[in-house]
Amino acid sequence: MYTVHTLNKISQNGLALLGDAYKVSDELNNADAILVRSAKMHDMVLPESVKAVARAGAGVNNIPIEAYAEKGIVVFNTPGANANAVKELVLCGLLLASRKVVDGINWAKTLESDVAKTVEKGKGAFGGGEILGKKLGVIGLGAIGVMVANAAQALGMEVIGYDPYISVDAAWGLSRHIKHANTLDEIYAEADYITIHVPLLDSTKHMLNKEAFDKMKTGVAVLNFSRDTLVQNEDMKVAIAEGKVAKYVTDFPVEDVLNQENIIAIPHLGASTEESEENCAVMAVKEIKDYLEQGNITHS
Ligand code: MLT
Repeated sequence: MYTVHTLNKISQNGLALLGDAYKVSDELNNADAILVRSAKMHDMVLPESVKAVARAGAGVNNIPIEAYAEKGIVVFNTPGANANAVKELVLCGLLLASRKVVDGINWAKTLESDVAKTVEKGKGAFGGGEILGKKLGVIGLGAIGVMVANAAQALGMEVIGYDPYISVDAAWGLSRHIKHANTLDEIYAEADYITIHVPLLDSTKHMLNKEAFDKMKTGVAVLNFSRDTLVQNEDMKVAIAEGKVAKYVTDFPVEDVLNQENIIAIPHLGASTEESEENCAVMAVKEIKDYLEQGNITHS
């Protein structure tokens, strides 16, 4: 009998795949494996029984992977399993960046009487622009970046992508709709909208900072549905105040956001769909079973 400790709420349809040879436990003691979503594991002391940790999600920055590697604990993630959910929210973010929907809805909620007439008079304050024909720069051409690029192209955007690990040929193989930039500066110089889809690493932390904003087109909209600290928030606030960045749509909380009317901060809902939670749980459970039962390290 194997014991799997769940650190966050994990989709029941995924857990059901564990089968009779497994016990799901709230207790860490004697656990063979841990299933985790976003809980931070850096300060946790794991019992020697733990052989594997599977993150039901793509990013692994909540897990001390190097320390676990030294102890022989294998860490899995579920790349691609929530990509469609994130892609759909990024598309929503593109539209939120171009249309003043959030401000309009908030204003409409304050109206008390003669609403139709007041709306007719007041809605002029909430005009926006269209994304059709605008250029989207996609930084990072992994599962999510490529899906976003294809969807944006289908909505009539021109798309330019950059990924230091993918050659021009490979990028064309992934998506014929992506023009591949050879440098980040090309993205900064050309894009009307920039969306970032890279993991959080020492080398990517705060990569969207003053130096990057200075190279961007005035009035650019920036989207961050990856990790909060990819963007230097203080530099972002200055870039917004100076009019360099017209809109920042982020899937993370931002301090003082109420005073920043050009920042739309979503409480990290990118992967929060029933479908994606199930996909991630199914993949993570298969990875754990495959490892504990067969010793295989796989991603499906
Ligand atoms: C991921 O890393 O897969 C996403 O950020 C979603 C999540 O945090 O669960």
